[in-house]
Amino acid sequence: ASILILHGPNLNLLGRREPGVYGSASLMDVNRMLEQEAQLLGVAVAVFQSNHEGALIDQIHAALESHQGILINPGAYTHTSVALRDAIAGVNIPAVEVHLSNIHRREEFRHHSYIAPVAIGQISGFGPESYRLGLRALVTYLNQIKD
Ligand code: DQA
Repeated sequence: ASILILHGPNLNLLGRREPGVYGSASLMDVNRMLEQEAQLLGVAVAVFQSNHEGALIDQIHAALESHQGILINPGAYTHTSVALRDAIAGVNIPAVEVHLSNIHRREEFRHHSYIAPVAIGQISGFGPESYRLGLRALVTYLNQIKD
């Protein structure tokens, strides 16, 4: 299987951005860890980061041709984007939502996710480990629906 990993806005600043909240690992560190994990799990991954809502949506549409699952940290679009939610619902590719921080123990405006209702599940609060757990859960899910 091939998994599309999407990082939303401001995640390119990872490691420099509010390190008290998001930690010191860079996006490159996270991606390297995910590529290693993917190898262990026997799946291919393609990674994409964008600060633009439409660019993320275009990638989700393109995934129809090439990917069986989506791992996404939608960043702040989690809390604002009906369009991103509709894209995930529209392609009907199994998606897992991940967050570095625990969005439920932060500001009220981060408690609601437009993405959660169209995701298989959400993992939030474990730093880069959220991505690793999310990838494992997604691959387990895909292996189960396959057989
Ligand atoms: C985030 C949480 C969001 O609320 C925030 O806007 C982000 C990062 C996280 O990974 O913890 O950009 O998705």
